[in-house]
Amino acid sequence: MTRRGFAAKRVVTCDPGRGTLEDAAVVIEEGRIVYVGPRAGAPAGVALVDVGDRVVTPGLVDAHTHACWVGSRHAEYAVRMAGGDYRDIAKAGGGILSSHRAVAAATEDELVEALVARLRRMATLGVTTVEVKSGYGLEPEHERKQLRAIARAAASRDVPAVVPTFLALHALPPSADRAAYVTRVARELVPEVAREGLARFVDAYVDANAFTVEEARAVGEAARGRGLGMRLHVGQFADIGGAELAAELGAASVDHVEHIAPAGIEALARAGVAAVLLPVASFTLAQPPPPVKALRDAGVSLVVASDANPGTAPTESLPLALALAVRSYGMTPDEALVAATRHAALSLGLADRGVLREGARADVVVWDLPHEHALVQPWGAAKTHAVLVDGVDVLRPR
Ligand code: NIG
Ligand code: FE
Repeated sequence: MTRRGFAAKRVVTCDPGRGTLEDAAVVIEEGRIVYVGPRAGAPAGVALVDVGDRVVTPGLVDAHTHACWVGSRHAEYAVRMAGGDYRDIAKAGGGILSSHRAVAAATEDELVEALVARLRRMATLGVTTVEVKSGYGLEPEHERKQLRAIARAAASRDVPAVVPTFLALHALPPSADRAAYVTRVARELVPEVAREGLARFVDAYVDANAFTVEEARAVGEAARGRGLGMRLHVGQFADIGGAELAAELGAASVDHVEHIAPAGIEALARAGVAAVLLPVASFTLAQPPPPVKALRDAGVSLVVASDANPGTAPTESLPLALALAVRSYGMTPDEALVAATRHAALSLGLADRGVLREGARADVVVWDLPHEHALVQPWGAAKTHAVLVDGVDVLRPR
């Protein structure tokens, strides 16, 4: 049983009781953290690597991604940047349906290969847990294929831990009967996915031009009865009552919430539903930010995630999302870091990570940066020095 660890000038625990420690050490053993504290107090006989002036944090947790995709949407992106509307493109068969065609045509192996490559790149950016949604398969056989691909990718080497989400209602597949589709998803697909252990959460896109509160409720009730948690896409374009539904269903999170009324915010706060903010998506869609101050003041737990997808958030970088959370959402660097570690982990039901504390999973990042506030500055560059996932080096010091 080998114990090893890092000694650093700054260790940011993201643990409310501990805060930031100077001249400190983190010691791990068998995938668990066994010591966080002053360097001088570290257990004797441990091989401590001195990382000097670098800062150490918990591994980042990306709580909202659509990372299982193939194909490219560069043509529609150019149209959008020239003024084309995302929802008009979707109505004309582009957008989510364009990725649906690519995913439906792909083999499971091809999806695994694309996702593993993407997850490895995310790990080099300091991300050690990633939520990955299905939602481009749309038809039951292709949704299942996507979820199986996510499970296989999760079992690969050198990837972050993966939390699979069945994005049950994302878009209506071409030529599907709406009512029959929703009924089939709720009555057949959700139970099947739960039985086969293919997902931990179920998601639905509750918005104007997407799915209604009633449609999402049908899926949510099916999920709740089967031990699956809920996360909902809510208020990306319009507030149609998704936050109230999330509170009613006891969902773990509402995601996007650029559009949410005070009553919705109150409902979230009362029910303890986290708000997952996706600043890369609102940046590419040139949208105003969500009401961050009102959410914060109401005591809603704030999470920041990448939304990695080929349409609204063409990035794999959670650090980029953090940079934008600070630049355009008015979050502080400290708030952004907690939003992408402890808060993100708790929203996924994972209390064992997102913090550096004894007993937590050994998901640790050493940054080639002198201070945690610098994390939101080097836009686009991987500023990691070492990344450990469950105690395993996925990026070794260069
Ligand atoms: O989170 N809002 C819906 N879903 C994704 C976009 C999916 C896509 O355009 O492929 C989102 O922004
Ligand atoms: Fe999304």
